Amino acid sequence: MSEPVIKCENVYKIFGANAQKMLQDSNGNVDAKTFQENGCIVGVNNASFEVSKGEMLVVMGLSGSGKSTLLRCISRLTDATGGKIFIEGQDLLKLNNKDLIDLRRNKMGMVFQSFALLPHKTVVENIAFPLQIKGIKTEDSINKAMDMVKLVGLDGRENYFPRELSGGQQQRVGIARSLAVEPDIWFLDEPFSALDPLIRKEMQDEFLRLQDKLQKTIMFITHDFDEALKLADRIAIMKDGIIEQLDTPANIVLNPATEYVRKFTEEVPREKVLLIKDVMDVSKDNLGDLKVSKDEIIENVAEKILTQEKSVAVVDDNNKIIGSINPTKIINTVFGGRKNNN
Ligand SMILES: Nc1ncnc2c1ncn2[C@@H]1O[C@H](COP(=O)(O)OP(=O)(O)OP(=O)(O)O)[C@@H](O)[C@H]1O
Ligand SMILES: [Mg+2]
Repeated sequence: MSEPVIKCENVYKIFGANAQKMLQDSNGNVDAKTFQENGCIVGVNNASFEVSKGEMLVVMGLSGSGKSTLLRCISRLTDATGGKIFIEGQDLLKLNNKDLIDLRRNKMGMVFQSFALLPHKTVVENIAFPLQIKGIKTEDSINKAMDMVKLVGLDGRENYFPRELSGGQQQRVGIARSLAVEPDIWFLDEPFSALDPLIRKEMQDEFLRLQDKLQKTIMFITHDFDEALKLADRIAIMKDGIIEQLDTPANIVLNPATEYVRKFTEEVPREKVLLIKDVMDVSKDNLGDLKVSKDEIIENVAEKILTQEKSVAVVDDNNKIIGSINPTKIINTVFGGRKNNN
């Protein structure tokens, strides 16, 4: 396997004057309550994980669970109190200022919860700005910025100033601005949270389409579990600075590791998340003519399967039969099991 693009080893971020010392004394066993009694706030507590090239890791959790802090450590907007962070094998905490600026400018893109748009620049100038910092000619940068304006659906508003835009529109400028430099590693901190539901859904679809094409390595923060399920290759669920579970959407829905995680999964329509292979039987007996791919989302093929009298064959990428699924199983998945863990 190739080297991970992002790698965290036992990362801690603790706020407070005594943070360093308390972390050392604790030997890595950080209890948020004890720390708080001693004037320290635990932001990130012992996070270890990897993100591989082209993967989208969604970080999910309630407000205050440490999502933004974790992202800020990895983009080194803040220094972790303990642990190691590697970006493409480079030890992030050992980079000097110049290398860090280079890394941020050429490799990393960031979109934050609240965008810092430049108030005296127009939409298109805001988007072109990071390109100009990279030394790209004004005309080229404006052309590229105009492409981005179209991409995020702001045509006709390119000469507006930020104050003339709604919150959601400003957010789209921020997204366009960070995409313009074509970063390999993309950090997004609740980029869609201020958008109304329809636009938000459109932006998610657009985002998936882009990612399909661009294959960036992404850490995406949200506190919307549906958004996480829709976008993620894997999801990290945080609580009180701790990553409680990190797994694929299907495994999280099927096997929530803790009560906190289970609460998120409770209301999830399973057919939208689970694939045929997640629920199929291994039996290959008594099959009808219909075949479905193991990688179909259940919702997309449920109707077809429900009209069959016999079991439906499940096939792999080579059209080889690897199992079966019957209408009862579909009914059980869709209507059963939302309350218990099965
Ligand atoms: N600069 C800071 N100084 C002190 N405490 C901080 C600081 N930044 C964050 N914290 C604390 O760290 C914890 C995690 O905050 P963080 O902003 O990472 O949460 P979050 O998961 O991003 O929440 P939200 O969904 O509301 O954005 C919180 O308890 C917060 O109060
Ligand atoms: Mg946050």
